[in-house]
Amino acid sequence: MRSKIQFLLNGDPVALDFSEYGTPDPQITVLKYLRDFRKMTGTKEGCGTGDCGSCMVALAQKDTAGNTVLYAANACLMLLGMLDGKHLITIEGIAKNGKLHPVQQALLHRKGTQCGFCTPGVAMSSFAAYETGRKFTPTSIQEILSGNLCRCTGYESIREALTDLNATVQSLREPTIELPPALPGEFFWEGSMGPYIKPQTVSSLLEYKRKYPRYPIVSGASDFSVKNILEEPEQRPLIDTSDLEELKQIQREEGWVTLGAGASVETFKNMLVPLYPAAEAYLLSFASLPVRNRATIGGSLAGASAVGDIMPLLLALNAQLKLRTSGGSRTVACKGFNTGYHTHLLAPDEIIYAVRIPIPSKTRKLFAHKQSARKDMDISTLTFCLCFDVVNGIVRNASSGFGGMAPTPVSSKELEDFLNGRPFSEETFAGASALMPQLFSTISDVRGSAGYRMKAASHLLVSCFLETHGRNHDR
Ligand SMILES: Cc1cc2nc3c(=O)[nH]c(=O)nc-3n(C[C@H](O)[C@H](O)[C@H](O)COP(=O)(O)OP(=O)(O)OC[C@H]3O[C@@H](n4cnc5c(N)ncnc54)[C@H](O)[C@@H]3O)c2cc1C
Ligand code: FES
Ligand code: FES
Repeated sequence: MRSKIQFLLNGDPVALDFSEYGTPDPQITVLKYLRDFRKMTGTKEGCGTGDCGSCMVALAQKDTAGNTVLYAANACLMLLGMLDGKHLITIEGIAKNGKLHPVQQALLHRKGTQCGFCTPGVAMSSFAAYETGRKFTPTSIQEILSGNLCRCTGYESIREALTDLNATVQSLREPTIELPPALPGEFFWEGSMGPYIKPQTVSSLLEYKRKYPRYPIVSGASDFSVKNILEEPEQRPLIDTSDLEELKQIQREEGWVTLGAGASVETFKNMLVPLYPAAEAYLLSFASLPVRNRATIGGSLAGASAVGDIMPLLLALNAQLKLRTSGGSRTVACKGFNTGYHTHLLAPDEIIYAVRIPIPSKTRKLFAHKQSARKDMDISTLTFCLCFDVVNGIVRNASSGFGGMAPTPVSSKELEDFLNGRPFSEETFAGASALMPQLFSTISDVRGSAGYRMKAASHLLVSCFLETHGRNHDR
């Protein structure tokens, strides 16, 4: 057991022993640590909930293959204890020997800043892309800056600055960034906010869950940090699983790909898209790149939101979940995992261990659509995903997933039964569309009335045919 973590901050080693008087609690956010404890105020505080990007930093760490990876992350959604073994780079650390980093130089040259509040965040998102050798195209810039809001400059000059960087950016590569040596032993510290535990193995995690079933897991901390800021509990014990490599593994076995529940949504996207290319646009609309870099699949599923984007897709894919306790494991279908509004069938001492996704046959088609007010960084009003085979012109094995149509993500067996065995034609999908009002009594909330949701879902069935049939259409 140890009460110490160590990391690099802009190249300088930092060792924090939480048992020493005056060391902040490991539960505080990285943003609070930087601004309040280090007086490094270049990293700005805006929303505090992952939406604005003014707190953007870059983080380097090892991935499951042992390669160094560098990515942009929101400092307001990361806990201090999560920095153990990593290299944190902030806006104060990217200029070298009195010379601005090429990203800063380009923003200056193109006048990509006015009030400057968003600028450190914009620079850090761009820095992570530049240092990993990403080319700056209109599409990649959209993604790289998907987590950064600018209120006054307007994005054109920022885009121009990033486009200029193509002159010097090197090709895709592993960044050469130093990492600190790993400290031996398990981190355990009972501070003023409650115990903060970092198990080193899944069996140790499950043992803690057996002893303390009510201690929540925190993995990407994106939900946790938002709830923390809104509820401000005085005490909250937690088990940090963010560095458990076993929970991030990808394995292929007979007909299935298995991905650990601790893998990020971005890793999930990169794993899934080669199998189901139609999932790409859908998953790109999940939050922003920096949120996807840290938020995990397990966290999304355990959150059990009615408008979460991952579960409707998994329902359509006929995916399974591997659940584990210290006493054993079970595999359940995603269909049936959610039991009601924000509830699921996980026992208090149980974790989501992995997601199992069927490898598709050549005849399998996927349609996945998220309806939201904004394209990036928005909660869905409604999601609709449908996966099916077309064999000799006939629809087979249809599997559906809806979000925002009921208090929990759901499939519709009636819709699937209607489609199965019918010709793959516009008439069939128009017939299914007409059936929709009989299948759902839709929810109404601030994001959309029941009438709007029903109309949109019905139209999406027709879009589903046109898109999977390969026809251009206007949704
Ligand atoms: C700015 C922002 C934008 C977002 N946009 C979207 C969006 O577009 N679409 C969308 O669907 N969602 C969105 N979300 C929500 C997002 O899905 C979740 O925040 C995220 O996936 C949760 O993962 P996490 O690892 O960060 O969870 P954490 O905050 O670490 O944990 C969340 C909950 O899950 C539990 N948990 C975590 N892992 C496991 C596990 N392996 N087994 C059992 N329980 C576990 C924790 O105990 C906790 O109760 C957004 C969130 C933010 C902050
Ligand atoms: S402060 Fe707005 S994203 Fe972190
Ligand atoms: S420069 Fe003012 S918010 Fe972007």
